Amino acid sequence: MKPILRSAALLAAALALAACERFPVQSTQQGYRGTGMVQIDNPRIKAAQAAARPPIPPDTPPIAATDGPKARDTFQNVKVLGDLTVAEFTRHMAAITAWVSPEQGCNYCHNPANLADDSKYQKVVSRRMLEMTRHLNADWGKHVGQTGVTCYTCHRGQPVPAYTWTKAPPAPRSGPGSLLGNDFGQNKAVPSIAATSLPYEPYSALLKGDQAIRVAGAQALPVSTHKVSIQATEQTYALMMHFSEALGVNCTYCHNTHSFATWDVPARVTAWHGIRMARDLNVNYLEPLGPTFPKTSLGPLGDPAKVFCATCHQGQNKPLGGAAMAGQYAGLIAAAPAAAAPPLPPPLAEPARAVLYFGVGSAALDAAQAQGLARLLDTMAARPRALAIVSGFHSAAGTLSSNQELAKQRAFAVRDALKAGGIAETRVRLERPQQTGANVAGEDPSARRVEVTLQ
Ligand code: HEC
Ligand code: HEC
Ligand code: HEC
Ligand code: HEC
Repeated sequence: MKPILRSAALLAAALALAACERFPVQSTQQGYRGTGMVQIDNPRIKAAQAAARPPIPPDTPPIAATDGPKARDTFQNVKVLGDLTVAEFTRHMAAITAWVSPEQGCNYCHNPANLADDSKYQKVVSRRMLEMTRHLNADWGKHVGQTGVTCYTCHRGQPVPAYTWTKAPPAPRSGPGSLLGNDFGQNKAVPSIAATSLPYEPYSALLKGDQAIRVAGAQALPVSTHKVSIQATEQTYALMMHFSEALGVNCTYCHNTHSFATWDVPARVTAWHGIRMARDLNVNYLEPLGPTFPKTSLGPLGDPAKVFCATCHQGQNKPLGGAAMAGQYAGLIAAAPAAAAPPLPPPLAEPARAVLYFGVGSAALDAAQAQGLARLLDTMAARPRALAIVSGFHSAAGTLSSNQELAKQRAFAVRDALKAGGIAETRVRLERPQQTGANVAGEDPSARRVEVTLQ
């Protein structure tokens, strides 16, 4: 190549590179070097993004608790915030106005002639949003932590949050009978999945429905029992693009790229809970509001707007940079009545095998579960040389050492129940705790079981 051409090529390459990101970037190591556990940020892009964000509305300090009259007794139609004093209630109304309708004011939700009137859909929606926000702060601590959520987290001073989704019809590429056919909901450069060619609306299946977000098999070689369709795989990847875009992070923020299926990055566990939280909000709060909204607010297939990660996160790994606003508003954090723990499955009670289940985080053997040992105890009484082998199983979520400790304590509880049933301790053998591959967060009771077999 002639020198002049070479320098022109070099110059072109330099210009092309300059169009990417200006160095230096910041890299933060989150695991061992050389294992791909590094988070890369560009401080200048972050600073520009921070400057472009509107300031968080200032908080007014809570009014010191007084014995003043309660909102419930003073106003006519207060169903959620009734426990607040009138002064605190009024402060909440002012804050809600600043968060949701600063330009429109109180009358965005209220009929000024009668504040108790529920004729405006905005007020009916807001009441449900109050209940939703309380539920988020009271029951989704595993995701929102102490930071919590206010109306501002999603609304940011606008009546309609900037980032939401509705069902999208697959757009045929051209008219009926076209050779180009259907696009199966792909190849439309929508921003929420970072303009990739992946399915542009993976949310109905994954953030409202409970389709599994799993691709990897547990074995090295293909096995007939592990089947994930290409479409489901593409939906998983589309959702992952959304995660990265919504939080302003790379895949490595949640994954160790040596294996996307491992759980060694804590953020992935928080995200796992976020997925369940988004499903809960969409199924139990937003979808049922459909009939309350005017037709013009609904999506092209007639469903109301729903939440995904971007609704709260809006490009930051913690919404609003982690600013905690909810703690100042008693009306948004009032504890909802504790949800009853889901019932345990019945124990498996066979003459030579018993499987007993435990509550989340608990090593206490429930009386009904202990009944599962009855037939096995009969067999042991009849066969005095039989040994009981006790193994505790635990989930893959959380830290291994505390999980193993819990599984051990559960095995001890079962050993004690056998002893109480008249079996000498020498006839009980405890095995090492074992991890179940199946589930992450202990929701599946099989990850909280103790098995007893006879030998
Ligand atoms: C984004 C919607 C929204 C805005 C804006 C709003 N409110 Fe409300 N307001 C509500 C909801 C919802 C209730 C019912 C709360 C409940 O049931 O606990 C309510 C109830 C009230 C009540 C009780 C009425 C009664 O007799 O039952 C008063 C008073 C009130 N608001 C005053 C105000 C004032 C003053 C403003 C402006 C500073 C305001 N609100 C702005 C949603 C709103
Ligand atoms: C988790 C996110 C989230 C939180 C928190 C939240 N909202 Fe919403 N809100 C939404 C979504 C999503 C919609 C539907 C938007 C649409 O119709 O496009 C909505 C719609 C509304 C609407 C109707 C807007 C319209 O004109 O169509 C009102 C009013 C409202 N919210 C008030 C509130 C109030 C008051 C709070 C706090 C008590 C609150 N929201 C908290 C997500 C949220
Ligand atoms: C905010 C955290 C987060 C980010 C960022 C993220 N993921 Fe994920 N990813 C998850 C979680 C959580 C799951 C598991 C979801 C479940 O089980 O419900 C998952 C699952 C996966 C799976 C399936 C793994 C398996 O067990 O089969 C793949 C593949 C994957 N992600 C790839 C990616 C790629 C590629 C990126 C970057 C474009 C990415 N992820 C970004 C949190 C994240
Ligand atoms: C209702 C609002 C809301 C929604 C929706 C939401 N998040 Fe979050 N998320 C939060 C809040 C608030 C925090 C900060 C919690 C804290 O400070 O401990 C957070 C924290 C996180 C973190 C931990 C960040 C860190 O650096 O520790 C991850 C990861 C995350 N969210 C992922 C997701 C994913 C993925 C989704 C979508 C499936 C999602 N979030 C949806 C409110 C939300």
